Amino acid sequence: RKPSVQDFKRQHMDPDSPPNSRPTYCNQMMKRRGMTKGSCKRVNTFLHESWATVKAICSQRQMTCKTSSRNNCHKSSSTLHITDCRLKGSSKYPNCDYTTTNSQKHIIIACEGNPLVPVHFDASV
Ligand code: C5P
Repeated sequence: RKPSVQDFKRQHMDPDSPPNSRPTYCNQMMKRRGMTKGSCKRVNTFLHESWATVKAICSQRQMTCKTSSRNNCHKSSSTLHITDCRLKGSSKYPNCDYTTTNSQKHIIIACEGNPLVPVHFDASV
């Protein structure tokens, strides 16, 4: 299935939560946003920034994506408030157990369409 803006928002956008997530944030949010069905998604990043801020990255520096050879990735010129969710090694499906790490990093996202909109989260750097 083609990556879509709706999927990007569901998996990565959380503008209304404060930037300093509680330790239980990832366990709750990964479930609430449908990333623990069938299997536990291993790594996922949530962005505590407005959609306007994230969408604007599509007009910032273009580059080759890190997780594919495509050239439709863009790196944010500023750092963003993010929460990094990582599946613990001891986690056993269906009990998807994550570490929650807050940080401020640049992000790299892929954009598509006209006008360009985010469709894929590539990396934080
Ligand atoms: O890096 P990998 O190809 O395993 O990433 C798969 C998916 O994991 C990405 O499409 C993205 O949704 C998510 N991811 C993320 N934050 C990262 C790395 C990957 O949200 N830092």
